[in-house]
Amino acid sequence: MTDDNKLSIVPAQLRDTGEYSSFIVQHMAESGQNGSPVFAPGHKPSREDVRDHAALRWSKKLTEPAWGRAFLLVNKTHNIFGHIELRGGRLISELHRASLGMGILRSHVGRGYGTRLLEYALFWARSQPQLAWVDLGVFEGNEPAFRLYKRAGFVVEYTRQDAFRLANGRSVNDIWMTLQLR
Ligand SMILES: CC(C)(COP(=O)(O)OP(=O)(O)OC[C@H]1O[C@@H](n2cnc3c(N)ncnc32)[C@H](O)[C@@H]1OP(=O)(O)O)[C@@H](O)C(=O)NCCC(=O)NCCS
Repeated sequence: MTDDNKLSIVPAQLRDTGEYSSFIVQHMAESGQNGSPVFAPGHKPSREDVRDHAALRWSKKLTEPAWGRAFLLVNKTHNIFGHIELRGGRLISELHRASLGMGILRSHVGRGYGTRLLEYALFWARSQPQLAWVDLGVFEGNEPAFRLYKRAGFVVEYTRQDAFRLANGRSVNDIWMTLQLR
């Protein structure tokens, strides 16, 4: 807990895409490992893919489909320990909604950083006049994430049964949650 005061949240910049892609690859590899809940659909993204797609999303204006805005949990030397991202829909007519994804390295979960990241991103979302809703999907059984979202006011819309089939053959149900921003 001694490092708690040293990590801060910063908006992601285009220059962060390299470090961000390494973080995402490391984080995705932790899904379902060493006591972590399953939180990733299973495929292992390459660093290059993550980097290029992030650069594309983060370059877009909020008036363009498929925009993205990420906020990073970093130490003083800008190593990334966690992230949260809001993404706009694929159609112009869905741009009043954003979908949310987040994650923290296993070494740093359970210390309140998830709560801080979520508060930060929702504060930002509420300051964007065009945004009215934030949506997310959480795998059934991912209790830390489910509790975090419920406490922030997200409500369950429905559960998609058999939403994903992982590489090991396991079927995962996905709980769809939403939050009205105002
Ligand atoms: C989900 C996640 C972002 C939460 O961040 P965090 O920093 O661990 O969360 P916090 O410490 O702020 O705690 C959030 C809630 O989870 C609970 N929690 C934390 N660790 C837990 C655990 N191992 N088991 C059960 N609940 C746990 C906390 O008690 C808290 O709930 P409460 O407010 O009802 O007490 C983080 O655990 C994570 O990155 N997990 C892996 C990736 C992931 O699941 N991403 C979300 C995909 S939808």
